[in-house]
Amino acid sequence: METIHTISDMKETSIRWRRQGLSVALVPTMGYFHEGHLALMRTAGLEADRLVVSLFVNPAQFGPNEDLNRYPRDFERDAGLAEAEGVDCIFCPEADDMYQPGFQTWIDVPDLSQGLCGASRPVHFRGVATIVAKLFNIVRPDIAVFGQKDFQQLQVIRRMVKDLNMPVDIIAHPIVRESDGLAMSSRNFYLSAKERESALSLSQALHLAEEMVIRGCCSAVDIVKAVRGHILSYQDTRIDYIFLGDPEDLTEIKEISGKVLLALGVWAGQTRLIDNTLLRP
Ligand code: PAJ
Repeated sequence: METIHTISDMKETSIRWRRQGLSVALVPTMGYFHEGHLALMRTAGLEADRLVVSLFVNPAQFGPNEDLNRYPRDFERDAGLAEAEGVDCIFCPEADDMYQPGFQTWIDVPDLSQGLCGASRPVHFRGVATIVAKLFNIVRPDIAVFGQKDFQQLQVIRRMVKDLNMPVDIIAHPIVRESDGLAMSSRNFYLSAKERESALSLSQALHLAEEMVIRGCCSAVDIVKAVRGHILSYQDTRIDYIFLGDPEDLTEIKEISGKVLLALGVWAGQTRLIDNTLLRP
């Protein structure tokens, strides 16, 4: 496995592969790999001849009071895990190279970026869309794999690719969970033992909503109430949002009819966690 640090080396490698007629898959990440990241790599590896994993903790998607500086990092461990998954190349550029002096071009997907996580993280999706577009331009992948855990991010990227005619196929990967249901996340590393217990309230609340819908409940108000009650029954939880709405355009709904996205943003102590499920009546 090759580690590439500069944009120019990454471009050259990708061009060389393309000249050889090889297809390229990309899995964009911010590192500190867990089984969720590795599952994306496995899927991506099956879809193309060469697999690039980008590892870049993107400053532009963190707000001023967010966890950019303490975001967990362990390059040696990540490199070992990626190599074991058959990754051909890890691309880990420097922030100064990605955002050179004078940088001022941003990609904004305004409607999809507004609600859910965007409500409390106003610059987040602009930062995500811009870095993903830059990675696509540098790596030139045929396909790119993203996790459904970040459902809003996935929809923002799909919209950007469609609107800007980017020549890349976006593949969505289901949420990978711990055996007790907690969605895997690099940020789970922050959780104390007590917070780890409270973090379980998210996947449990999603399950509760799924059961309600299976039993015939169609009222968004009733589902949100039950979800809220369950989450707040745990110690030290604070709700950022409970969203029930259209999975495509992310507008809220009142009645469950057809496929509906239930997405949660919840603080367990000092750590903000997200999770989601698709409800089907
Ligand atoms: P990061 O949080 O490192 O996640 C990288 C990819 O792994 C994303 O597509 C995310 O949805 C996916 N992922 C994370 N946890 C997952 C889980 N439990 N199950 C399935 N997939 C999971 O998301 C980002 O980085 C950044 O915003 C990025 C897209 C790299 C842009 O900077």
